[in-house]
Amino acid sequence: MSPVLKNNRTDGKGLSKPEILAKAWLIVNAGSEITAGILGGTIYYLLSTGLIRKAIIEVREKFGKESGITAQLPYLLACLWEAHRMYPAGVVGQAVDVPPQGAAICECWIPGNTGIRDNQCASYRSKTMFKNPDDYIPERWFGDSKYASDQRTVFQPFAYGARNCISKGLANMEIRLVVARMIWNFDMELGKETGPDWDDQKGYMTWAEEATYHQV
Ligand code: HEM
Repeated sequence: MSPVLKNNRTDGKGLSKPEILAKAWLIVNAGSEITAGILGGTIYYLLSTGLIRKAIIEVREKFGKESGITAQLPYLLACLWEAHRMYPAGVVGQAVDVPPQGAAICECWIPGNTGIRDNQCASYRSKTMFKNPDDYIPERWFGDSKYASDQRTVFQPFAYGARNCISKGLANMEIRLVVARMIWNFDMELGKETGPDWDDQKGYMTWAEEATYHQV
């Protein structure tokens, strides 16, 4: 909060204390637990499918030293997209207001001005949207022809429109670099207590995730 307080305007046009508190809630949640959740999900899927080996090759063969690691990691990026699809960070969905005249959504008539949420899990795990929706397949993001029928436009982990995630560029880069450096430094394996249905979790603001891996 130090930079926020230091840079706040003092001429009456700055943020009020309640406004700062409201934003702090969002930034702390988004910048910590949401990002950590997708990191945990990516590592879990890489380890549980064995695809970590491909990610290791990309990271350890491409860069000569840890300080040289950049976000230019196409395979890891596809792994990250696929983790967003299987385990979207915005669990409860995005809040949207139905236009005043009402709208038909999924063959249901919703009266105007109703507050609704679109649930990413419902779309991303639907067979009408993605082939083999419950399988973790990073290749679908590489233009693999087997997945040409995937409805990619439905995939909006950072939401869509004017109020989409203010930080998606930062979050994408941060997560790729953190995963890459974990892969560079550690040989990881799933903890024995991590079952095959680890991602079957309760979701509130974020996922109620449990510890998933140990350093070996
Ligand atoms: C994997 C990481 C992240 C994902 C998937 C994500 C996803 C989202 C989504 C879906 C929204 C729209 C919420 C809504 O419409 O109700 C959003 C908004 C927002 N996110 Fe993120 N986010 C991530 C990381 C971050 C980080 C790291 C920050 C800040 C450090 C951040 C700051 C924000 C802010 C300030 C908004 C509100 C923007 C507005 O209302 O104009 N997010 N994010």
